[in-house]
Amino acid sequence: MDFTNKVVLITGASSGIGAASAVLFARASAKLAIVGRNMDNLRKVAENCETESGHAPLLISADITAEDDVEKIVKETIDCYEKIDVLVNNVGISLIAGIRDGVQPLDKIMDTNIRGAYMLTYRVIPYLEATKGNIVNVSSVLSTTALSFMTPYCMSKAAMDMFTKCLAMELAEKGVRVNSVNPGPVRTNFFTRAGLSSEYSDAILKNYAEKLPLKMVCESEDVAELIIYLASDKARCITGSCMLIDCGGKLGQVEKIM
Ligand SMILES: NC(=O)c1ccc[n+]([C@@H]2O[C@H](COP(=O)([O-])OP(=O)(O)OC[C@H]3O[C@@H](n4cnc5c(N)ncnc54)[C@H](OP(=O)(O)O)[C@@H]3O)[C@@H](O)[C@H]2O)c1
Repeated sequence: MDFTNKVVLITGASSGIGAASAVLFARASAKLAIVGRNMDNLRKVAENCETESGHAPLLISADITAEDDVEKIVKETIDCYEKIDVLVNNVGISLIAGIRDGVQPLDKIMDTNIRGAYMLTYRVIPYLEATKGNIVNVSSVLSTTALSFMTPYCMSKAAMDMFTKCLAMELAEKGVRVNSVNPGPVRTNFFTRAGLSSEYSDAILKNYAEKLPLKMVCESEDVAELIIYLASDKARCITGSCMLIDCGGKLGQVEKIM
């Protein structure tokens, strides 16, 4: 895969899937703008990218839920590179919450997982139209699998899939593709950030690794490989797709495993 002279903007690049994606895009010679809140982590990712490509990425400290920050993301990227070829909407959070926990978890998750991506994408679209670029959204298998203890998260990822499909329809005539990756469990900090202890998080991932058809869980790099493929010209005929990467979990009713 070759992204020479392509500008790739990745949100949530300070950790997990976003960080792995940044390193893979750097290996493919992309010019990177990487976004996160934790600047220490973002700097470490930038060092890894620079090792791969010899070029330092643009680091942007931003909270995706804050409109001013979202404006800053686009301004700083354009000031630095003058164009955008690929947008990876990767930021996502979860909470262990159902409807009995009230509206607050829903607001927090929707603000981050959907409204944030929506606000940013709206501002990036003119630049993608100019480059005939593309968008990769990071969704989840839980967009189509209901879990009783993650209702707002599952709802947010269902919305993300429809965002992908509607945008693909809206932007096709401008030559802009839009796809999502829909991972099953991935070994990241995601579960501890959702409020689980690290012991419980490890136990969940171990349980999945034993029970998923392929007898393993995805690593961040596995998902990053799919993201970079969808973002590349090799995927030029793919738009509006929500691509499972789940070690076969959907085949075996993954929700019964947890
Ligand atoms: N891990 C899984 O099992 C799994 C499965 C399916 C889908 N996913 C999806 O994969 C995506 C990445 O998750 P991950 O597993 O890599 O988790 P992660 O390691 O927790 O990474 C989440 C990233 O999102 C950023 N972020 C969170 N809230 C933000 C905000 N308000 N503003 C800006 N950045 C924010 C974090 O940045 P800071 O730390 O700098 O704040 C971090 O870089 C998410 O959309 C998630 O829903 C994960």
